[in-house]
Amino acid sequence: MGEKSLVTLAVDIGGSGLKMLCLDAEGKPLTERLRVPTPDPSTPARLLAGLDALKTKMPEFDRVSVGYPGVIKKGVVLSAANLHPRWLGFPLQSALQKRWTKPVRVANDAAVQGFGAIQGRGVEMIITLGTGMGSALFTDGRLCPGLELGHHPWLKKTYEDYLGRRGLKKYGVKKWNKLLRRAVAQTAATFNWDHLYLGGGNTKLIALQFRPNVTIVSNLDGLLGGVALWRDEAV
Ligand code: BGC
Repeated sequence: MGEKSLVTLAVDIGGSGLKMLCLDAEGKPLTERLRVPTPDPSTPARLLAGLDALKTKMPEFDRVSVGYPGVIKKGVVLSAANLHPRWLGFPLQSALQKRWTKPVRVANDAAVQGFGAIQGRGVEMIITLGTGMGSALFTDGRLCPGLELGHHPWLKKTYEDYLGRRGLKKYGVKKWNKLLRRAVAQTAATFNWDHLYLGGGNTKLIALQFRPNVTIVSNLDGLLGGVALWRDEAV
């Protein structure tokens, strides 16, 4: 089968939801995006069983791209801030490859979402606002892997403490928006990005006006980057 007809199963593992859809070779959706709540406790075994169940609703595919909500190196999970600690050290890429007998690539969820959103020019950054706060940085379309801005100290805690699900619950939508405005300004001063993308489920709560070089991207982008993952060696 030629590269042009390859179907990619795109999977997004989130702290609150597991999402899946199939993409064509250009990264366009071939199916609806399906979502089920993340199992609790969110151990590897429970979560992989949840993914198995979602997969039965998908058509045939040739390869798999996975966004995972933590640090991934060489397909192995190195952090699990919003999932069960049993994930630490789990070889997600090889385990899924064995389970589903298809080639699998795994990367950080914000990186995958960024691949679906960026233009590929200059310094582009994505921040995702969901259960956790994700971040990824690209220069001319190449990912600089491993950025974990969410856990960087900011104000009196970390960015994620203020802007992730816990912060939203603690401070409420109005204050969360104010904090977000400050955080955007801080990242502009720190990274000097040419363009910032804001993604993730909680972007629907944003009540701020931004300059044209700050774009809110749809939740679907979290999965659309799944094809680009096979082009970039830096994941
Ligand atoms: C994790 C990141 C992840 C983000 C969004 C954070 O807690 O450390 O790796 O991208 O949540 O899921």
